[in-house]
Amino acid sequence: MPKHPLNLEDYRQLARLRLPRLVFDYVDGGAEDELTLRRNRAAFEAIRLRPRCLVDVSRRRQATSLFGVAMDMPLLVAPTGLNGMLWPGGDLALARAAARANVPFVVSTAASATIEEVAEAGGNLWFQLYIVSRAMADSLVERALRAGYKTLVLTVDVPVSGKRERDARNGFVQPFRITPSTALDVLGHPRWAWQIARHGAPQLKNMASAEASDIDTQSALLARQMDASFSWDDLRRLRDRWPHRLLVKGVLNAEDAARIAACGVDGIIISNHGGRQLDGASAPIEVLPAMTRAVQLPILLDSGVRRGADVVKALALGASAVLIGRATLYGLGARGEDGAYEVLQLFKSEIDRVQALIGCPDVAGLDATFIDTSQ
Ligand code: FNR
Repeated sequence: MPKHPLNLEDYRQLARLRLPRLVFDYVDGGAEDELTLRRNRAAFEAIRLRPRCLVDVSRRRQATSLFGVAMDMPLLVAPTGLNGMLWPGGDLALARAAARANVPFVVSTAASATIEEVAEAGGNLWFQLYIVSRAMADSLVERALRAGYKTLVLTVDVPVSGKRERDARNGFVQPFRITPSTALDVLGHPRWAWQIARHGAPQLKNMASAEASDIDTQSALLARQMDASFSWDDLRRLRDRWPHRLLVKGVLNAEDAARIAACGVDGIIISNHGGRQLDGASAPIEVLPAMTRAVQLPILLDSGVRRGADVVKALALGASAVLIGRATLYGLGARGEDGAYEVLQLFKSEIDRVQALIGCPDVAGLDATFIDTSQ
C-alpha cells in the first residue's frame, strides 16, 4: 500500500483499498470492452512533447482565467454523480478542495448534495444539467440561477446510459438489492461501511424537491434514463432561458461544435464521458485540433487526464483548460477532501515541472510548436 502517494496511480490504489469493489469499479470502469477508456490514455501517451532549451524558466506561471474568472491552474473538477458513495458529504468535500486550489468545481445533477448546499461551500461553482425530463430540467435551471451559479454545463452524451458491465457484474444496478456477494464486499471494507452507516446512504438530493419527490425520477437518474428526445430546438430554448454562460459537454464532432456555437453557446467541452458511454468513440485529445479549426469558442476537454503532462499537451493543442473526473475521485475515495486537494496539488506540481522542462514559463505561451509531429 503506498504510504506516501507519489502519483495519481498511488491515490487510485489507496481508493481501491478503502472502497468496496462495487463502488471502486463504478468510478474506475468504462462501457462494454473499455476500448475508449483505454484509448483515452493511449492517445495522451502517444503525444510527444518537443522541448525548447535555453529558456529562462526560473519563474513559472500556470494561473489563467476562463470567462474572465481567475484560476490557479488550467484545470477544473468535472461533474460526477453519487460522490457521497466515496466519502460522506463527497460533493461538499470536492467543492472545498477545488476552492482551496482555486479551480472551478462542476456540480452534477446527480450530486449527493443539493445545488443550494454546495453553493454554501463557496468557490467557483458551475452546475451540470442532465435532462431527465424537461420539467425537471427547467426547475433545476431555475434553482441554479437562484443559488447564484453563473455557468451551466449541459451534458449531451447520455441520451441513454452506456453499458457498464463491471457495474452489472458487481450488482451495482437499479433497483439495488443486497445480495450475499454485495454484503461480503461491503463488510470487507469496514472503514467505508462504518462511515456510510454513520452518515446514512447518499441520496440524489437534487431530485428530492417538491416538484420531483417522486421516486421514479430518482431511479431514472440513477439508471441514467434521460429524455432521449432532447435536440437542437431544446438547446436553443435552454439558451434563451439561461441568462449566463452556457457550455455543452460531450461533443466529439466538429460539425456539431460549429452548430452548437451558432446556437449562442459560450464554450464546448470535448468529452467521451471518460469512456463510460459510447465504447469505440474517439479520444477527445484526438479530435481537439479539428475542433479548434471549427469554432472560435473556448474549448475545454476531459477524458483520460492523469498527469500534468496531459494538461500541458491539451493546452498546446488548443484547449483553454481541462477537466478531471476520476483523478479527484481517487483522491476523494482515498482521503476525502484532503485527498482531492492533494491530487489537485499533484497536478499543479507536475504541470509546473513540465513547463520548466519544455521551456514554457507561462501556460499562455503553450502552442502546437511544443508538440512533436515527426514520425
Ligand atoms: C462521471 N461523469 C459525469 N458527467 C456528467 O456530465 N454528469 C455526471 O453526473 C457524471 N457522473 C460521473 C460519475 C463518475 C464516477 C465518473 C468517473 C464520471 C463524466 C465526467 O464528468 C468526465 O467527463 C469524465 O470523468 C472525464 O474522464 P476522466 O477524467 O474520468 O478520465
